[in-house]
Amino acid sequence: MTYPFAIHCLTDNFSWLVADAKQNALVVDPGESKAVKQVITERGLHLTHILVTHYHFDHIGGVAELSADTGAEVWAPQDTISPTHKTLAGGDKLDVCGYQMEVIDTPGHAFNHISLFFPALEALFCGDVLFTLGCGRLFDGTAQEMWSSLKKLRNLPPQTLVCSGHDYTTANLKFINSLKGLGREGIDTITKLETTRKDARDNKQPVLGVGLPTRIGDEICANPFLLADDSDFLKANGISKTAGVESFAEIRRRKDIF
Ligand SMILES: [Fe+2]
Repeated sequence: MTYPFAIHCLTDNFSWLVADAKQNALVVDPGESKAVKQVITERGLHLTHILVTHYHFDHIGGVAELSADTGAEVWAPQDTISPTHKTLAGGDKLDVCGYQMEVIDTPGHAFNHISLFFPALEALFCGDVLFTLGCGRLFDGTAQEMWSSLKKLRNLPPQTLVCSGHDYTTANLKFINSLKGLGREGIDTITKLETTRKDARDNKQPVLGVGLPTRIGDEICANPFLLADDSDFLKANGISKTAGVESFAEIRRRKDIF
């Protein structure tokens, strides 16, 4: 099987599973235990690590039960769950399940949000910072923090898989289609995503999760929040704010009321 593997939890959350050749597994952001347990049981995996990007309930709902049932270690940002977890912070590099993991501080959606980059897997687990064609709302962070976080993620290798915590792609496609000024690569990315999801609908499959994950390179050319310093995109959409954080805040404001 291919990893990272997306596990649908709750309404539109996705936890991400990775396993090594010895069948040891890690899971990122288990919003519930039942869905994760089902997958690890079916595949005969041994859960050794539970990783968390931020404290919101829909990302940690399954942590306590999974940890108790499997003995898996819990790694999370400071002040996330309880005093029992091990703490991750930006700049940390450690081996998890035989893979090197790099921790990136990505506040903006949550004050202590982190993202987890696995170079060997070419995979980024970014919770609620970066979504397919979107980004998280600013709950307890600022536009400046979120813009800085997005720029860090944008600098990862373009082939990096963007493994987000939710699938909001349907709503995000509507928003990007209301905007103008995408380049040829961006338009192609949108068309590819729409086609993939339409094919699933036509074959009577659930659309949620279809097309996840995208890659950083797709997001760079098609995600409106990553285009907040693209002067052509800003001009095409009548955004006269300064390129960068001010324009990012304006695009976020427009999406919030869309
Ligand atoms: Fe969240």
